[in-house]
Amino acid sequence: MSVRANALSIIGRAHGLVGVAILGVAVTGCAQDLRGELVAAGVFSPRSLEVGKDDLVTLGQMLFFDRELSGSRNIACATCHLPALHAGDARHLSIGQDGARLSRSVIEPFNRSFATSMFWDGRIEERDGEIVAPLPLPEGIETLLEAQALFPLLDRHEMRGMAGDHAEDGRANELAMLDDEASEAIWSAIVARIVAIEGYRALLASAFPGVTIEDITIVHLARAIAAFESHLWELTDTSFDRFLGSVSNPPDEGAMAEPERRGAELFFGDAGCARCHSGPLLSDGAFHAIGVPQIGPGRDALHQDEGRFAVTRDPADRFAFRTPSLRNVSLTAPYMHDGAFVRLEDAVRHHLDPEGSLAAYDGSQLSPDLQGQIHFELSPLIAAAIDPEVRPLRALSDEELWDVVFFLGTLSSQTEQALGPEAGIPRSVPSGLPVDAPPSGLEQRP
Ligand code: HEC
Ligand code: HEC
Repeated sequence: MSVRANALSIIGRAHGLVGVAILGVAVTGCAQDLRGELVAAGVFSPRSLEVGKDDLVTLGQMLFFDRELSGSRNIACATCHLPALHAGDARHLSIGQDGARLSRSVIEPFNRSFATSMFWDGRIEERDGEIVAPLPLPEGIETLLEAQALFPLLDRHEMRGMAGDHAEDGRANELAMLDDEASEAIWSAIVARIVAIEGYRALLASAFPGVTIEDITIVHLARAIAAFESHLWELTDTSFDRFLGSVSNPPDEGAMAEPERRGAELFFGDAGCARCHSGPLLSDGAFHAIGVPQIGPGRDALHQDEGRFAVTRDPADRFAFRTPSLRNVSLTAPYMHDGAFVRLEDAVRHHLDPEGSLAAYDGSQLSPDLQGQIHFELSPLIAAAIDPEVRPLRALSDEELWDVVFFLGTLSSQTEQALGPEAGIPRSVPSGLPVDAPPSGLEQRP
């Protein structure tokens, strides 16, 4: 007997490029159940966008690494999204402008052309073909990734800084002097900085032929940054994608080892993971409360981070966070929206008994400054919100848990696994400011 998978197709939209990925696989033998589960979970290999290395990408790379984009010229996108650290910063919670912890852990932007919202709380999202964001977007923004790039620039803690701040060389932080509501003015001031630099004028002219320097806006900068992110991080060279197959490659049954295959069968079967971790990113794009302990400053006076609730004000969304993509997950510790778990097996184990895990949370895995910032007093509230669907459909043995962890390892890109510390880093940027490089002594990092 053979099961013929539905032909799934998806249209990826980025910079006017359209790609189509189709899975239409005839399956036989013991792989049949797993193949059926994969189809049911809407999983397919997302390779669809060919993002070439062109002038737009080069411009985006420079901007991504250039501290000129931050108020005090001290933080670049790459400070928190280093290619060599797999698009993240390897910290529990990122460190922002004043050296203080942000409220959330970095999201590594892999395969984002398949994302339906941005941020742990989805505050930028696509609804009925429209991009909805916390404030009006400038005309011309086409994708979620472009829209996202505008927000760290406005955020005082991430990049903009506080009134009165100065750059190391004494230059004033004019961006921080502008009102928080004056988003258009802040973006214009950033564009003014960039076009004042000769190196950028040349890069802009080749990336946007026909657009005069006077007509360059923040939308052009966002487009270039998004192109760079896609160029680097739209990756599907994983064992799992080889197993899935794609338009150009037939499925390779041997791509996953026996324990990994067993883990996949559990993941899409009895472990119940695919109820939330489904689709090409192993995420349903929806929001669930799974009982993660509150660590760090939070987002209000009580140190709470109520997640999706802050966007919708729907009590059902209290402490719910976007199901994370699991692509490259074995490379991107720490885990959860606040980096509560360092080891992948602990992040998975948490799902087996979320209430118990929350109550017994071991803060010794945190770096010393965060060990005094575990808000156990909020745990009863967080526990009350837990989605009953988190638990597996039946108890899992320790061996089964490890099989699931082995399966998660098949979602890591070969390119990412082979990255050297210098990967993706330009030798210099047009502003002449220092370029972020990965720190030595990574074990000290979180
Ligand atoms: C100070 C650290 C820091 C800096 C600087 C920073 N980010 Fe982030 N980034 C984060 C954190 C933390 C999150 C998650 C925030 C949240 O969900 O609320 C994030 C989320 C993202 C996401 C969302 C991915 C998703 O799927 O939701 C993208 C894309 C991204 N950043 C790109 C950028 C770009 C582009 C820049 C520069 C313009 C930048 N970041 C600057 C820390 C940083
Ligand atoms: C009810 C939906 C749901 C189910 C079922 C579920 N997860 Fe999750 N998972 C989530 C959400 C939501 C998060 C993020 C929670 C947070 O940060 O507060 C998450 C986080 C994770 C993380 C951390 C990823 C990261 O980058 O931080 C891993 C790993 C993970 N899940 C694996 C699994 C596995 C394996 C299973 C099956 C045993 C599973 N999940 C079942 C919703 C779910």
